[in-house]
Amino acid sequence: MNQKPRLFSGMQPSADSLQIGNYVGALVQWRNMQATHDAIFCVVDLHALTVPQDPALLRTQIRRTAAQYIAAGIDPSVSTLFVQSHVPAHAELAWVLNTITGFGEASRMTQFKDKASRGGTDAASLGLFAYPTLMAADILLYDTNDVPVGDDQKQHVELTRDLANRFNTRFGQTFVVPEPVILPEGARIYDLQNPIAKMSKSAISDSGVVWLLDEPAATAKKIRSAVTDAGREVRFDRGEKPGVSNLLTILSSFGGSSITALEETYVGRGYGDLKKDVAEAVVSVFEPIRSRALELLDDPGELDRILGVNADRANEIAEDTLATVYDRVGLLPRRR
Ligand code: TRP
Repeated sequence: MNQKPRLFSGMQPSADSLQIGNYVGALVQWRNMQATHDAIFCVVDLHALTVPQDPALLRTQIRRTAAQYIAAGIDPSVSTLFVQSHVPAHAELAWVLNTITGFGEASRMTQFKDKASRGGTDAASLGLFAYPTLMAADILLYDTNDVPVGDDQKQHVELTRDLANRFNTRFGQTFVVPEPVILPEGARIYDLQNPIAKMSKSAISDSGVVWLLDEPAATAKKIRSAVTDAGREVRFDRGEKPGVSNLLTILSSFGGSSITALEETYVGRGYGDLKKDVAEAVVSVFEPIRSRALELLDDPGELDRILGVNADRANEIAEDTLATVYDRVGLLPRRR
């Protein structure tokens, strides 16, 4: 039988709404990869706990994240879309991986260093330190071949590969060694008000971030107020024209035309036209996704049911892998 390669990826439930950057950078790719892969997508709520969270807010964000992925085309009857904490094997395998991970090795993770230095190293939790081994567990439980991630996660996937190889060497062939699939640089979206910074939910001002769940009118207004650059020529040039280049990238991602083709379209036209077209393109894609997401969120019982069925599917695979791992390292099987 010609089996599709297994894909695993995860997203943190760390905002009420996804933004254009997540949509173009991750969601669109994931949606497309469903055709070529046996895909598993995980809302990584245990990872979210590595920094302080408000419990009530976290709970809504988990549902909202799942709803937006489904609304945007992740099909929970084709792919597996589940919540990490619903499958206990993630935390359990992470523990075993912690025991084969060096303290120094974990200390070299740049994301840990960044996040820990932001709050002062003493404030960083043990959970934050162990973030990468939990991520490795996510990936390794499912015999994953391909892991689509942003550039910032590449080091974590490299660690995952090292741990898989190390375990296999010490305890016998157990894990598939996964490959990172790094998203193309062209898919990078920048802040509308500060187009040299990546668009991010942690931006200082909300006016540069376009949220999937924003009202369409608010989205259009934000885009029309995007900063542009000196001059009047619509041309892609990240160094000289970061604002215009960002708008061209967005329009190309949402409208399907190449950047070169777009540059030709705007010869002799101004920034105003460009912004109007970007606003229209984004709203026409986001509007139906937004409505569908709000519909799903209106019926949390049904959403929870879908997530439950998907968690059962994930659990079956994960439990199997964990049982093998426990056996390989010499733990005693529990008789039932
Ligand atoms: N660390 C990833 C991020 O912040 C999220 C994540 C958790 C993940 N587990 C994963 C991504 C497994 C890919 C595979 O973006």
